[in-house]
Amino acid sequence: MAGHRSRHIMQDQEGLEQDMKIGILGSGLMGGKLGRNWAACGHDVTFAYSRSTSKLERLARDAGASYGSVAEAVDGADALLLSVHWSRVDDVLEQATASLGGKLVLNCCVPLDEGNSNLVIGPNDSGAEELARRRPDVRWVSCFNTIPSEAFAPVFARKGQTPAPQVFTYSDDDAAKEIAGGLIRDVGFEPLDTGGLRNGRYVEPFALATVELAYMQPGGPALTYRFEKLR
Ligand SMILES: NC(=O)c1ccc[n+]([C@@H]2O[C@H](COP(=O)([O-])OP(=O)(O)OC[C@H]3O[C@@H](n4cnc5c(N)ncnc54)[C@H](OP(=O)(O)O)[C@@H]3O)[C@@H](O)[C@H]2O)c1
Repeated sequence: MAGHRSRHIMQDQEGLEQDMKIGILGSGLMGGKLGRNWAACGHDVTFAYSRSTSKLERLARDAGASYGSVAEAVDGADALLLSVHWSRVDDVLEQATASLGGKLVLNCCVPLDEGNSNLVIGPNDSGAEELARRRPDVRWVSCFNTIPSEAFAPVFARKGQTPAPQVFTYSDDDAAKEIAGGLIRDVGFEPLDTGGLRNGRYVEPFALATVELAYMQPGGPALTYRFEKLR
């Protein structure tokens, strides 16, 4: 598909264009699908963190990507996606160790309880802020946490058609937000700047509203959104 050829690239010290090395920390519904799409854009993707090595191997083979341990995925990565249940976040951070320091991490996790029905952080705090407290040395960008994974394939297939669906994107690091924005565009979405990590207090509850819209209301789960300001 024509739209799949354009992609976000980094420039090396000589200004030469390079694909990005992306580590997927949590290779389930979110990580598996986003990783596959980034690999289709030409990025060097490593799938990690699953209970099944054969699943990681299959994901990597199908996507033309690699797989490995969390530490291997973090090593040398330009960007990482944190895509695990909230209860697994500490384990991933522990396995990532100090090498996560200074890295750009796209976080799509919603701080949910085991039953996935209630937020365990809020209303005057957020998972995004909690992660930043746990690892202040990481360049955190929250995104994709309000998009059901079922939307990723159809959005990617329609990439390049306008208008692109939006993704709430919030971070306290503007430069990191900009790089993340390129990766968001690569998979067919438009980043919608939703301010700093503090706004996770409002976006994370909204993620539960998207669950209602995607899975409870009629019409199927491939839900996307666009906000418009009228003049
Ligand atoms: N799914 C959505 O549509 C959606 C939308 C917005 C936000 N989110 C958020 O995104 C995050 C990821 O959701 P998801 O739906 O992608 O979850 P998921 O499909 O359950 O994927 C989580 C990944 O973590 C791995 N994992 C779980 N326990 C593990 C353990 N003990 N050791 C090693 N690996 C383990 C899983 O391994 P296995 O491969 O063995 O299962 C899987 O690869 C969550 O925080 C969720 O709230 C999800």
